[in-house]
Amino acid sequence: MAKLQISHVSVNYAGTAGGSTLALSDVNLALDPGDFVVALGASGCGKTTLLSCIAGFMQPSEGEIVLGGRKVEGPGAERGVVFQKHALMPWLNVVDNVAFGLRMRHVPKAERDRIALDKLRLVGLEKFARHPVYQISGGMQQRVGLARALASDPEVMLMDEPLGALDALTREQQQELILDLWWKTRKMFFFITHSVEEALFLATELIVMTPSPGRIAHRYRVEFGRRFIDNRDARKVKADPEFIRLREEILQLIHSAPDVAEAA
Ligand SMILES: Nc1ncnc2c1ncn2[C@@H]1O[C@H](COP(=O)(O)OP(=O)(O)OP(=O)(O)O)[C@@H](O)[C@H]1O
Ligand SMILES: [Mg+2]
Repeated sequence: MAKLQISHVSVNYAGTAGGSTLALSDVNLALDPGDFVVALGASGCGKTTLLSCIAGFMQPSEGEIVLGGRKVEGPGAERGVVFQKHALMPWLNVVDNVAFGLRMRHVPKAERDRIALDKLRLVGLEKFARHPVYQISGGMQQRVGLARALASDPEVMLMDEPLGALDALTREQQQELILDLWWKTRKMFFFITHSVEEALFLATELIVMTPSPGRIAHRYRVEFGRRFIDNRDARKVKADPEFIRLREEILQLIHSAPDVAEAA
């Protein structure tokens, strides 16, 4: 049995305009520690809905999600969430933002500072610990969001288009940082993106979802991230003929799906 087991999950949003929306239909997915699942697919295919179910923000209409033998019934510290909008507290400095969740759980100050500084070191921001968050760049703020999610030492990291608002160069640097975090921590990752290239670079398992109803239409096992860990050369990995072939194949899949609102 996998550590995170998503079994026959369906979500029906009742009462939407024109009736109900079947946002997810019979989704099955299993993750073990070290698995990096990336979800791709046209807008509206249910990616965020699936992440929300794993996070425990909502309950599936059918099916269940089990993490470490326990059914997911609400949010929990063993699941860290990172969104595109990092939602940092502007009145707190960097380290206090990272430690915020620990403070809410009444972890003593010395202990939460130690943990927060340790996570800031992981994302390369230890020198900015005492800076107000509004004085650091958008890319750095996103790294603070990552450190904050890591602070509770979750078993699974849930990331909804976390790099979507960054410029191309910062985005590529952040992808490398995330791979390093994945490799160092061996946590489970569930990551949503609209970029096929980003998905191929990060994933150990890439799922392509299609809308109406939202479901997993294709799955790929890939290992380009592992290659980056070995050779530290992202350009070389992304220029590999096999990488390019898969990128074109998946782009084709997404573009040929029904009801495509946006892709790539
Ligand atoms: N709270 C809600 N109430 C009703 N319908 C919803 C709700 N949230 C999402 N939906 C519908 O469910 C479907 C899946 O939405 P979801 O946000 O999960 O898609 P997504 O794949 O994350 O899209 P995007 O790529 O645009 O973020 C869509 O048809 C959407 O309109
Ligand atoms: Mg979404």
